[in-house]
Amino acid sequence: MQNNKRLIDQTAEWKALERHWQSLSGTRMRDLFARDPVRCERYSLSACGIDLDYSKNLVDQEAMKRLMALARAADLSRWGDALIGGEKVNSTEGRAVLHMALRNLGYREYRHEGRDVMPGIRSVLSRMRAFSDDVRAGRWLGYTGQRIRDVVSIGIGGSSLGPRMVCEALRPYQDPGLRVHFVSNIDGAHLGRTLEDLDPASTLFVIASKTFTTQDTLTNAVSARRWLLDAMGNEAAVARHFVAVSTNAEEVQAFGIDADNMFEFWEWVGGRYSLWSSIGLPIALAVGMERFEELLLGAHDMDEHFVREPPETNMPIILALLGIWYLNFGGCDSCAVVPYDQYLEHFPAFLQQLDMESNGKRVTRDGVPVTYQTGPVIWGQVGTDAQHSFFQLLHQGTRLIPVDFILPLCSHHPLPGHHEKLVANCFAQAQALMRGRTEAEARAEMEQLGLDEARIRELLPHRVFPGNRPSNMLVFDRLTPRVLGSLIALYEHKVFVQGVIWGVDSFDQWGVELGKQLAGHILRNFEEIACTPGVDCSTASLVRRYHLADCNGED
Ligand code: F6P
Repeated sequence: MQNNKRLIDQTAEWKALERHWQSLSGTRMRDLFARDPVRCERYSLSACGIDLDYSKNLVDQEAMKRLMALARAADLSRWGDALIGGEKVNSTEGRAVLHMALRNLGYREYRHEGRDVMPGIRSVLSRMRAFSDDVRAGRWLGYTGQRIRDVVSIGIGGSSLGPRMVCEALRPYQDPGLRVHFVSNIDGAHLGRTLEDLDPASTLFVIASKTFTTQDTLTNAVSARRWLLDAMGNEAAVARHFVAVSTNAEEVQAFGIDADNMFEFWEWVGGRYSLWSSIGLPIALAVGMERFEELLLGAHDMDEHFVREPPETNMPIILALLGIWYLNFGGCDSCAVVPYDQYLEHFPAFLQQLDMESNGKRVTRDGVPVTYQTGPVIWGQVGTDAQHSFFQLLHQGTRLIPVDFILPLCSHHPLPGHHEKLVANCFAQAQALMRGRTEAEARAEMEQLGLDEARIRELLPHRVFPGNRPSNMLVFDRLTPRVLGSLIALYEHKVFVQGVIWGVDSFDQWGVELGKQLAGHILRNFEEIACTPGVDCSTASLVRRYHLADCNGED
């Protein structure tokens, strides 16, 4: 696929959007609603069980039309075809990007270097089914004949965040007899604390690493093996308690895991797009293979929507363009994601890697420095907790930060009086961000409270909310595996669309390499590291400080 050498901000479509943002500068969303009785219908759409209301955005029809034109100027549909066609859209790593094939439960053909990838995918899925069924039914036993009660998935980044987020999101579907834990941090506290309550005889480890060379994961895996062998006293136990998920059979075997206990995937699956592959094995263990397949089906539904629907009614494209509108024309630099669902607790962290590792890039695919902002800072927390931490800044701070609200309309825990309050709070926050509180409204409120004029004047600036703060509202009936699959795929495609518009390679991650290399260098030279031309004095002095620490002393 030929790259487009022209930077997107040099196009007439970009310049028209700059002008249009300026022309909307005095516009208030309150007035847009007042002037247009069908604004909500005009800026709402449904796909795959998800309803998106994007009417509380600072857009008019002209803005949406011009944003669509920008997507066309970036050759979006050609890049979409290249993605599905198995072209090497990850050009800096020379790789195709075919995660959509992993959830291809339809007729679509996916080829990699001329070969149909579907038979390989189906064969791994059927091995995952057999294995997860055996573990869940108590047919797969530990070395001493005990049933598996705990699964510990060891992996990091894309080999952990997706499955961890999904397992938590689908907790209501989990079998209480099999607990699934995730260990990612190289900090011994993570593994140590997790293993504290577990019995080696009934614990299964899933070592998940695309490369099987990641220091964090291998360090944890080695310690986990030692913990098991200390209890079992026989190497043969490893075969009953360790399985691997990887693309690197050689390293898996070198670690001591039998090829029979390895679930493969492929280099054309990016780490942060891999939960749909055998990296999703902990999900299948937690909720069963049928539900894992429902998750795939939901993602497939969204793929079909993304591929078939015209841009004007295409949910991922609309979300991507709204993000670009604020980031590149409105001067925003971050986006908050606030799920009003405790089970989506890990969703913001998952999105951070998906979005920031994909589009946190400073040069285009051709290596030309960009002259505009790319990937935003993604952050968030579940509501209502978020309301009592950072919402103050969203309402009255100096920054413009668009928010995505995500809300299931039905709860898995219908405790009397809870869910309607959760729903009311979510809707109220979006409403407050949009409408704010005018001086007149603030004054009237204080007069009603009986405050005197002097106090009213004093408090007025504090009690006025500027409003006009944008948000998207994503709602669905219930957080089922299928809806969750669609929701994740929605954000994957959004990130892809934004990457295409910015002209960056959304599928590499060179930025995380340097830290890994330097950590290796510090470790190798821990004893004699000194202030030299290659090592800055701050780092050398910190290492000396580390050596001086009294780690064996009393508290
Ligand atoms: O953080 C960098 C990264 O390469 C991620 O992209 C990836 O998801 C993670 O490390 C883990 O890599 P692996 O699955 O190879 O252990």
